[in-house]
Amino acid sequence: MALQNLDVRGIRFNVRQQGTGSPVLLVHGFPLDLTMWNAQIEALSQRYHVIAPDLRGFGASESMSSDVYSMEQFADDLADLLDTLEVTEQVTFCGLSMGGYIAWQFWRKHRARLKKLILCDTRAAANTPQGAETRRKMANHVLRSGTGEIAALMLPNLLADSTRKKNQGIVEKLTTVIRNTDPRAIAAAQHGMAQRDDFSDELADIDIQTLLLVGEQDTLTTSGEMQGIANCMPRAHMVTLPNAGHMSPMENPQVANQAILDFLK
Ligand code: MLT
Repeated sequence: MALQNLDVRGIRFNVRQQGTGSPVLLVHGFPLDLTMWNAQIEALSQRYHVIAPDLRGFGASESMSSDVYSMEQFADDLADLLDTLEVTEQVTFCGLSMGGYIAWQFWRKHRARLKKLILCDTRAAANTPQGAETRRKMANHVLRSGTGEIAALMLPNLLADSTRKKNQGIVEKLTTVIRNTDPRAIAAAQHGMAQRDDFSDELADIDIQTLLLVGEQDTLTTSGEMQGIANCMPRAHMVTLPNAGHMSPMENPQVANQAILDFLK
C-alpha cells in the first residue's frame, strides 16, 4: 500500500492511496486512524482509486495545537487534501461515525466535489447538553491522564459483544490505536463534536445516491436511528450488517465490502 506524507497548507498529512479508477475517500471515526479501513482498502482498490487519510492529529498526521477541531475544519482539510492530490473527479465520500459528521459538513461546503455518499454508523442530530458535557469531561481526562484508560472504557460501545469475544485481533488493534492517539487530538475532536450542529433538517436536500451501513448490534448509533436518517434522504438505501456493532466495516468486512461494491457499480 502506498503511504505518503503530504504537506497540505502547512500540515503534514499521512495518506494511503491504492488502486485506480473513480476516487473513493475513506474517512475514519474517533479516536482512530486510517487502518480501520484496511479491509475496505484491499477490496475497493481492485476497481477504484482509494484515498484514506489520517485526519489532523490522528494516526500519523500532524497535530495542530488547537483547543477545537471542528467538523467543518476536518471537511476543509479533506477538500484541500484532494486539491493537493490533484483529484478533480467527483468522489464517493465514505465516513464512519465522526467521519459521517464530517460528511455533513463536506456536503454543506464542498458538494460539487461529491458523487455519492456512504455513511456508516453515524448520526445527524447534535449532542444533547448532557452528551456534550460527557465529551468535555473525557477531553479534560485525557489531557490530564493520557489515553491509558479510555480504550477499555470505549471498546464495549465500539464493538459488538460477539466481536469482543471472538475477535481478539480487532480488540487489540483498536486498543493500540486508541492508546497511541495524541491526547490533544482526542480533546480537540471531542470539543468539536460537542459543538457540532444538528444536520437533521438538511437531510432532505441531499439529492445524491447514498448508502447507509449500520451494525445490527450498534448501540451508539442504532439501526433505528440510521433508518430515521435514511427515511429523510431522497436517494438513500440502508444495509444492516449482522454480527457487527459500531465498527461495522471492521467487524463484518465481507458484507460491508459487498454492499459498498454493489453501490459503487
Ligand atoms: C466515532 O466512532 O467516530 C465516535 O463514536 C463518534 C462519537 O463519539 O460520536
